[in-house]
Amino acid sequence: MDFSLKSKVALVTGGSRGIGKAAALGLAQAGADVALASRKLPDLEKVAEEIKGLGKKSLAVAAHVGRLEEINNLVDRVKAEFGRIDILVNNAGTNPVMDPALEISERAWDSIMNLNLKGLFFLSQAVARVMKERGGGAIINVSSVEGITPGILPVYAISKAGVIMATKVMAREWAKYNIRVNAVAPGLTRTGFSVALWSNPEILEVAMSRTPMRRIAEPEEMVGAIIYLASDASSYVTGQTFAIDGGTTI
Ligand SMILES: NC(=O)c1ccc[n+]([C@@H]2O[C@H](COP(=O)([O-])OP(=O)(O)OC[C@H]3O[C@@H](n4cnc5c(N)ncnc54)[C@H](OP(=O)(O)O)[C@@H]3O)[C@@H](O)[C@H]2O)c1
Repeated sequence: MDFSLKSKVALVTGGSRGIGKAAALGLAQAGADVALASRKLPDLEKVAEEIKGLGKKSLAVAAHVGRLEEINNLVDRVKAEFGRIDILVNNAGTNPVMDPALEISERAWDSIMNLNLKGLFFLSQAVARVMKERGGGAIINVSSVEGITPGILPVYAISKAGVIMATKVMAREWAKYNIRVNAVAPGLTRTGFSVALWSNPEILEVAMSRTPMRRIAEPEEMVGAIIYLASDASSYVTGQTFAIDGGTTI
């Protein structure tokens, strides 16, 4: 078993905070050089400095991962800087509304699907082309427990279920290029993204009643599985979704 990511190059979307930041620092601690992408460059640059402090190389690229031209520019920048991409963590995700399915607008649907599903798919496609040239790689998609069993975010849940199927579709097609594709499905995690959920006592109570471990996750608790799925320790694992949820989906 080899959990080391020494001499690998990783790209993490949404790497400026929350789960993406924890993943980026974890991948660097495991030995990888790490490129980071999100919309706000100054936030990314702070994380890039932390990675450099760990003795690894880092590159921060401002990119809206729901936009194809920005996705292509991102991949070109990482390729120009590092010459390769071995690991992609598709972590950037959004959910701007908490409306029920009866109320949800087309604008909200498009914003969620553009980033969570379309962006994830086309970034994976662009990176897989680079991985194929270099003999393989590992892609880790960040889904959600809401992609396994619906909660209170209807379109988000549909997008995250799509992430699980995208994981299987890409894994099946790209195995012949030595590209493995897996997903993690976090339960409720203490980040800015979900603060409206975990800071609301009623919503938190419902979430805890469904969670055998009776607590929410910290972003760092996602990192071990991401390193495992990025490394040769998982060399025969592909197309799988790993729920990291304190038992919520049991
Ligand atoms: N927190 C939870 O409870 C939870 C549970 C299950 C799954 N997840 C999933 O975990 C992933 C990370 O969430 P998080 O909780 O860590 O969120 P977070 O702390 O809010 O971080 C989100 C990251 O995504 C970036 N981002 C947002 N929109 C973007 C866009 N259009 N293009 C590029 N980057 C963008 C943000 O940076 P900028 O604002 O600078 O773009 C930030 O770096 C998401 O896919 C989310 O769905 C979270």
